[in-house]
Amino acid sequence: MKDYKIAVIAGDGIGPDVLAEGVKILKTVAKLDGGFSLEFTYFPWGCEYYLKEGRMMPENGLELLRHYDAIFLGAVGYPGVPDHISLRDLLLVIRKGFDEYVNVRPVKLLKGAPCPLAGIKREDIDMVVIRENSEGEYAGEGSWLHKGTPEETVRQTGVFTRKGCERIMRYAFELAKKEGRSVTSVSKGNALNYSMVFWDQIFHEISEEYPEVETHEYLVDAAACHFVRDPGRFQVVVTSNLFGDILTDLGAAIAGGMGLAAGANLNPERTFPSMFEPIHGSAPDIAGTGKANPMATIWSASQMLDFFGYEQYGKLLLEAIEDVLVEGACLSPELGGTATTREVGDAVKRKVEELFQR
Ligand code: NAI
Ligand code: MG
Repeated sequence: MKDYKIAVIAGDGIGPDVLAEGVKILKTVAKLDGGFSLEFTYFPWGCEYYLKEGRMMPENGLELLRHYDAIFLGAVGYPGVPDHISLRDLLLVIRKGFDEYVNVRPVKLLKGAPCPLAGIKREDIDMVVIRENSEGEYAGEGSWLHKGTPEETVRQTGVFTRKGCERIMRYAFELAKKEGRSVTSVSKGNALNYSMVFWDQIFHEISEEYPEVETHEYLVDAAACHFVRDPGRFQVVVTSNLFGDILTDLGAAIAGGMGLAAGANLNPERTFPSMFEPIHGSAPDIAGTGKANPMATIWSASQMLDFFGYEQYGKLLLEAIEDVLVEGACLSPELGGTATTREVGDAVKRKVEELFQR
């Protein structure tokens, strides 16, 4: 029997609450299937750990995670610890250290999910954003000179390598080819005259390898406008680290809210563990209230099942979430309901069990 070892980093704020529901659902699926097992190991890293130990995770953190089949992460960040520390010293260390260069973020309006856009059909919001996750604007390169003087100078350098651009674009094209969908590149070649001109050039080169795949290109500002006015034109979207970060929050806003937006950080070669997480943060404003929606985390659990090769269960989890949304009886406050995080998780669990019987 295949035994998957999963490292759990619940993190801060609502992280532990939503993750508990994700773990519950994964355990349910494994039990119903009976042919594989999941073993969860908890790592108590995050801002509380930082306040005690002076770091977000131990120095040998990557060593400790290295041999797990996947990492399941809630969210990190909390008032009292600067955000650039909580993000850079844990999340970005893992994404970079494990070469999780593909960030897969579905922007799909599920049945029953609310949409703030007028005149848009549900089917019109069904894309997947493939965000470059290892370099680009988040490479962390630059300098801070002459601190506190009138000459103070800060440089934040984007790093775009040929290898990095080619591999993320190939990933997007392979996905589009497999699913018979188009690829849209989002860049900003008019203003970023090195990085994004290079990005565009490589997009053209790679697109020649896939003559059967339809392509489109937009500047990021225009893309933001189209996300709202005409999201139906996007299918597979490939973009840089920063643009993907921003566009997928916009994507979350048009597809049901932050409580419904999931993401997978993939190392497609499987040399290192991949990491699955909701895209939202630790939501300090609702932490400890039981108001967090665990659906994004459950969706990222479905991405984990896809990655393990159980696509039938990945789909089943999405159907279960849709059933709960359509029924409307057990929704978190964000979606207009009064249910707690745990109650929503239990409702999804019941749907999973029902769907499994069918
Ligand atoms: P956030 O995503 O935590 O919250 C934004 C808004 O969405 C808040 O009003 C929050 O209540 C709401 N929200 C988020 N998730 C929700 C859920 N599951 N159910 C219902 N409502 C939800 O972003 P914010 O406030 O900018 O950041 C808070 C902290 O999280 C910061 O320390 C930030 O650095 C960190 N952060 C961490 C991330 C990660 O660990 N992957 C990603 C984004 C932010
Ligand atoms: Mg973000």
